[in-house]
Amino acid sequence: MAQNRLASERKRFEPGFLRERIESSLRRLRTDYIDLFMLHSPPVEVLQNQDVHRLLIDLRDAGKIRYLGVSCDDVASARAALAWEEIDSIQVPVSLDYREMLPEILPMASSRGVGVIAREVFAGGRLRDHPAIRQLSVQRPGLQWFEFALQFVQQMPEVSTVVIGVTTRAHLNANLNALASQPLPQELMTQFRCVT
Ligand SMILES: NC(=O)c1ccc[n+]([C@@H]2O[C@H](COP(=O)([O-])OP(=O)(O)OC[C@H]3O[C@@H](n4cnc5c(N)ncnc54)[C@H](OP(=O)(O)O)[C@@H]3O)[C@@H](O)[C@H]2O)c1
Repeated sequence: MAQNRLASERKRFEPGFLRERIESSLRRLRTDYIDLFMLHSPPVEVLQNQDVHRLLIDLRDAGKIRYLGVSCDDVASARAALAWEEIDSIQVPVSLDYREMLPEILPMASSRGVGVIAREVFAGGRLRDHPAIRQLSVQRPGLQWFEFALQFVQQMPEVSTVVIGVTTRAHLNANLNALASQPLPQELMTQFRCVT
């Protein structure tokens, strides 16, 4: 019951509801401001709603939010987020398996100075069996699939940071080591960025 309530509330974007939730988060976190407030996968119409814009700008101007962002699921919502001048950051899926954001959204964010948080870089763990990974294992034996998957996204010039999904300490350590290892050569980045 409580889970159902949370699941449905998670998808509510009315300004009054958002204000109440932000204020109660501040109280629970015992803090005066939220560093980065991101709307979680809103539909395009929410991103075009002037009342939502006004609310978040008011909260930012009041010092309760420092930066505004939107977590987007597809190109249409990322485009709508970037059309909003006040947005500081977008969170988008980017991986060897999901390149829809590459041609338009990443360059647009970069040219506007909007931070890009890339997520689902392992395609939820399914990348291990991707054809590009099989091709890579022939071309560069020894380079682990997760190392390539992570570096491939993290090294994109438009990407500010990555969110990685891990539930095991072993994967966390492996990913931290991957991030600290030698960068991928540029020709590999170019080759796989262009793979369709
Ligand atoms: N709309 C949104 O805002 C939205 C939508 C989707 C996801 N997200 C967020 O984005 C984050 C990432 O999403 P995700 O977890 O679905 O995708 P992901 O990061 O692409 O994949 C996570 C999967 O990869 C596995 N993995 C990670 N490192 C590995 C390694 N070194 N070797 C082998 N397997 C490895 C994990 O296994 P283990 O669990 O076994 O470590 C897990 O199964 C999450 O925090 C999620 O909440 C947000």
